[in-house]
Amino acid sequence: MVRCVVVIEIRNVWKRYVDKIVLEKVSLNVEKNEFITIVGASGCGKTTFLRMLLGEVQPCEGSIMIDADRLIPEPSADRGVVFQRYSVFPHLTVLENVLLGLELTDSRWLGRTFGRRRAHNVERASEMLERVSLDRAADNYPSELSGGMQQRLALAQTLVKAPRILLLDEPFGALDPGYRSDMHVLLLDLFRELDLTVFMITHDIAEGFSLGSRLLVFDKLRVDPHNPDLYGATITFDLPVGHHRRLDSIMDNMNVKPNQA
Ligand SMILES: Nc1ncnc2c1ncn2[C@@H]1O[C@H](COP(=O)(O)OP(=O)(O)O)[C@@H](O)[C@H]1O
Ligand SMILES: [Mg+2]
Repeated sequence: MVRCVVVIEIRNVWKRYVDKIVLEKVSLNVEKNEFITIVGASGCGKTTFLRMLLGEVQPCEGSIMIDADRLIPEPSADRGVVFQRYSVFPHLTVLENVLLGLELTDSRWLGRTFGRRRAHNVERASEMLERVSLDRAADNYPSELSGGMQQRLALAQTLVKAPRILLLDEPFGALDPGYRSDMHVLLLDLFRELDLTVFMITHDIAEGFSLGSRLLVFDKLRVDPHNPDLYGATITFDLPVGHHRRLDSIMDNMNVKPNQA
């Protein structure tokens, strides 16, 4: 299967709920294989932004293009998402949870497949479980797993469908710090192996600086103290980051390159 280069173009996107402006003038170009981390104050619109990329929320103005096509306004297999709160089904085993995504894609109405197709799906699901080190827990139920294992399951459930774009909304926010660093290693390995383009929201600024190749800061450029809903947040900083960047050059960047778009 040939995968074309993902280029995401976000042009002057606004999101408003009734008379509250959440996001304004958001513009961004993203190349294939970028690992974008997103930070910003609670309630500033980060999840809304991710849900727009997923196709669940529509911009009021502006456009989001993927591979030069306007984003289809519904979730599709080329984009996968993992939220902070576990999205796994408690009444299904670990293997059944991973299988379900594949079966729903293959057989939308029945939710399961049969015969060779089923065997092929079980093989793919088992491989993905092995990749996230959950193969030995395949027959367990989610309640029998630790928080870290449940998030690995949520990742497997999403990645088994081979999305090109992975959207992560504070995926490790509820995990103990020890588990989190293991998840960082796993996520970076999967990012490289599976040829992904990643958007990851985090409330941990250190995670934002170390994990991604590009850090976006969402904030309001203007604030009306009498009407806090009058202005929305936008991307105020867009910084190259990662292990290869030194903190002093990042700080230089912050001084000279605020994104005023
Ligand atoms: N469906 C909705 N209807 C009305 N307001 C909403 C809706 N979804 C989100 N909001 C509001 O949009 C703002 C941004 O929310 P969100 O994107 O979840 O922020 P963040 O993820 O940065 O914490 C919040 O004030 C929230 O209450
Ligand atoms: Mg959020």
